[in-house]
Amino acid sequence: MSALIGQDLIAAKELLEKGELVAIPTETVYGLAANALNPEAVLKIFEVKNRPHFDPLIVHVSSISDLEKWADHVPEIARTLANKFWPGPLTLLLRKNERIPDLVTSGLETVGLRMPNHILTLDLLKSLEFPLAAPSANPFGYISPTSAVHVQDQLGDQLGYILDGGISDVGVESTIVDCSGDELRVLRLGGVSLEEIEEIVGTSLKVQISSSKPNAPGMFLSHYAPRKPLVLGDIDKLILQYLPQKIGILSFQKSYPKYNNQILSATGNLREAARNLFGALRKLDAENSDIIVGELLPEEGLGRAVNDRLRRAAHRE
Ligand code: TXA
Ligand code: MG
Repeated sequence: MSALIGQDLIAAKELLEKGELVAIPTETVYGLAANALNPEAVLKIFEVKNRPHFDPLIVHVSSISDLEKWADHVPEIARTLANKFWPGPLTLLLRKNERIPDLVTSGLETVGLRMPNHILTLDLLKSLEFPLAAPSANPFGYISPTSAVHVQDQLGDQLGYILDGGISDVGVESTIVDCSGDELRVLRLGGVSLEEIEEIVGTSLKVQISSSKPNAPGMFLSHYAPRKPLVLGDIDKLILQYLPQKIGILSFQKSYPKYNNQILSATGNLREAARNLFGALRKLDAENSDIIVGELLPEEGLGRAVNDRLRRAAHRE
């Protein structure tokens, strides 16, 4: 059985009101959404994704004024960042109030709030009387979905409905900024670049991405991973090293016409590369090669978020 795919907001709303799951499009990646105020509905997210219960979910809202609704204290800087980047690929961690169930935040004192920038999902959120808890709509640990078909391929038989909003424009997950403590910390690099946030904040920020005891519990060393081994480095050298195995190549700009090759951005545009990343990894994973070789991008702008995903995708326990 597969899920219905379409743009029927009423159908999506009715399922969510009944405590069912609906996949929703966002500008970053597709989310697997449930009524954030209904623990039974939220539990289904963990089950369908096979996600550990200690890994908290982001709560999606439809307006900046919702900050006060779910956080018990909203520092001025959080409001400033929301004003600047919402709707958009930025998640703000704030001290939660008691209306957010503990299951959503895995018992933490903070809640991640985000207003996504996608017209269908914003319309859906505005029609609902509750916010939506939603992780990326992929089985835990696998590559995140950036199209309705990606969701259908992996979770279609466990879902009632997939709201189809086309291909995700940003293509990597939101940047997570912890605003709950004395100083701001970036816990995940994502669709808003570090440089853009630092420009607003006016100072350089602490990037605290730990993998052994993650501050954002989902930042495991191995994540976003294809089933085939992915090796990073100098592509030309890696080809020599791995021949005669069948090689798939994930390159930034350069073309390798003799191989299964996905190019992230022929013009070297980091935004375009981010948009293409997960789709390219999925295609290479589906092709008949034994191994995928790839290279890192320049460590700036969205290149940082892409490199973070590539390193985790390449990591083997
Ligand atoms: O762009 C996105 O953020 C996408 C779309 C669907 O909005 N969502 C997403 O969710 O990437 P997910 O669950 O795949 O990743 C959320 C990350 C996890 O690493 C989780 O541990 C962290 O956010 N997180 C959520 N709430 C947190 C909290 N209260 N404290 C620390 N980390 C938190
Ligand atoms: Mg995820």
